[in-house]
Amino acid sequence: MVDSLEKEGCVPVHVGIIMDGNGRWAKQRGGIRTNGHSEGLKRAKEIAKAASDLKIKYLTLYVFSTENWKRTQQEVGFLMNLIHGHLLGELNFYKENKIRVKLLGDITGLPKGIQEDIIECEKETESFDGTTINLAINYGGRNEILRSVRKIAGLSLKPEEIQESTISDNFDVPELPDMDLLIRTGGEKRLSNFMLWHAAYAELIFCDTLWPDYKRDEFIGHINEFQNRTRRFGAV
Ligand code: IPE
Ligand code: IPE
Ligand code: MG
Repeated sequence: MVDSLEKEGCVPVHVGIIMDGNGRWAKQRGGIRTNGHSEGLKRAKEIAKAASDLKIKYLTLYVFSTENWKRTQQEVGFLMNLIHGHLLGELNFYKENKIRVKLLGDITGLPKGIQEDIIECEKETESFDGTTINLAINYGGRNEILRSVRKIAGLSLKPEEIQESTISDNFDVPELPDMDLLIRTGGEKRLSNFMLWHAAYAELIFCDTLWPDYKRDEFIGHINEFQNRTRRFGAV
């Protein structure tokens, strides 16, 4: 069992996770898809705690994409209730672990109750300076870039005044650095519109484990794997 890192220090600063496979996990057990989401929430908390223990500065969790509205009304409703219940009822989880919470995504497209939860959660945790958990809810990488470009269009800048940093300064969490490590569970090998800008040079790990089975040990194993990668960023 892996319960600590092989190399102390040099953990990735920003880790992103596409938490996929909840529906299949439930189906394999003869249950309905939504059972997988409930179990998946437990893993999200377990991994958030692990990230905080490992002193990872930013963990971005893909909770609900701009494309996930295509699912049945019943599943979308269940997910919104689950998110609402978690943010409202489990704020203490973040406070006890001194985790700062930020929303990534278009808040205006979310139900009013969730908008209020997010504002409350961000406010109550803003002073914590350990791990920040970015919850990507109603998030799409293209949508994030589009919203940034729209804000910039209102600034009447000259074209040559627009830098890469102008685009990232207008993202939901402007200080969020590039992603170092992107993990996707559930066996699919695609980005599904996650963090298109930030993941430009991320190390990628795709694993077959369905999200509700993804535990702390496997996460630590993936951090170890990251530490053994050679990153060149185009140099030799
Ligand atoms: C990921 O699991 C959770 C969300 C997208 C909200 P899925 O619900 O996509 O599960 P699979 O991929 O269908 O098994
Ligand atoms: C990506 O998973 C979105 C989240 C994990 C929140 P999906 O299950 O929605 O992605 P696709 O449909 O397989 O691309
Ligand atoms: Mg899926």
